[in-house]
Amino acid sequence: MNIENKTVLITGANRGIGRALVDEALIRGAKRVYAGTRGGALQATDSRVTPVTLDVTNASQIQKAAEEVETLDVLINNAGVAIYDDLSNADAIEQHLAVNFLGMFKVTRAFLPLLRQSKGAIVNNLSLVALAPLPVIPGYSISKAAASNMTQSLRALLAGQGVTVHGVFLGPVDTDMNRGFNIPKASPESAAQGIFDGLERGEEDIFPDPASQSIAEAWRAGAAKELERQFAAFAPQSVAV
Ligand SMILES: NC(=O)c1ccc[n+]([C@@H]2O[C@H](COP(=O)([O-])OP(=O)(O)OC[C@H]3O[C@@H](n4cnc5c(N)ncnc54)[C@H](OP(=O)(O)O)[C@@H]3O)[C@@H](O)[C@H]2O)c1
Repeated sequence: MNIENKTVLITGANRGIGRALVDEALIRGAKRVYAGTRGGALQATDSRVTPVTLDVTNASQIQKAAEEVETLDVLINNAGVAIYDDLSNADAIEQHLAVNFLGMFKVTRAFLPLLRQSKGAIVNNLSLVALAPLPVIPGYSISKAAASNMTQSLRALLAGQGVTVHGVFLGPVDTDMNRGFNIPKASPESAAQGIFDGLERGEEDIFPDPASQSIAEAWRAGAAKELERQFAAFAPQSVAV
């Protein structure tokens, strides 16, 4: 996958990593970048950027966005929320699942017909907490683990249709999302570069920043990845995702 001359859609594109992904796609020569936002005004200075109103929890906005987009090579499911919780309130878990898991799933389903046509790629922005929970954000961790598991199923189910599915195991990145954490963080720009580098190298699991890179080899050689490969053999031939 080479981003040059490709059409890319990025959810949660008006700030943080999503905004950096828009800029990086343009730098790499994308033909068109659809920037999904919840309606906030995106200051697009490049004529290749097309703003799209897309709250990933809003079924009618998802449907309308899928009708507006003509062709699509790369869908980047980036929109996400993180709320501090301690598992004392089921609402916090539901809010995380609605955006980080079900939003990702519904947007993916809506754009799959276009991605099948282009034999394109789905990039799901996950987190290291998908692999092990961070106890200050357990609800968020649950949603990223669910999204990671879904990413693996989609990868197996879509393999026969020429659509590749990539999970991004981000470590800490310096955005509004983790302002409260006083820890080393990668810049959004470097994380965006790492995501596109991994995609262009064809990596199914992408580790785009120093913290995530530190566990990349262990993950790829580990028992969970081996089980994913073994279980993928059971994917049905005919798929109706
Ligand atoms: N920052 C990190 O350390 C880190 C680490 C691991 C993974 N990640 C993941 O990376 C992704 C981007 O995070 P970030 O750090 O850039 O966060 P951010 O700065 O908080 O930005 C989150 C983006 O998601 C959008 N969003 C939230 N709910 C949405 C919804 N229902 N529909 C559409 N868009 C929605 C926000 O839109 P509004 O501007 O309208 O609120 C915003 O553009 C997320 O999936 C996050 O979980 C981040």
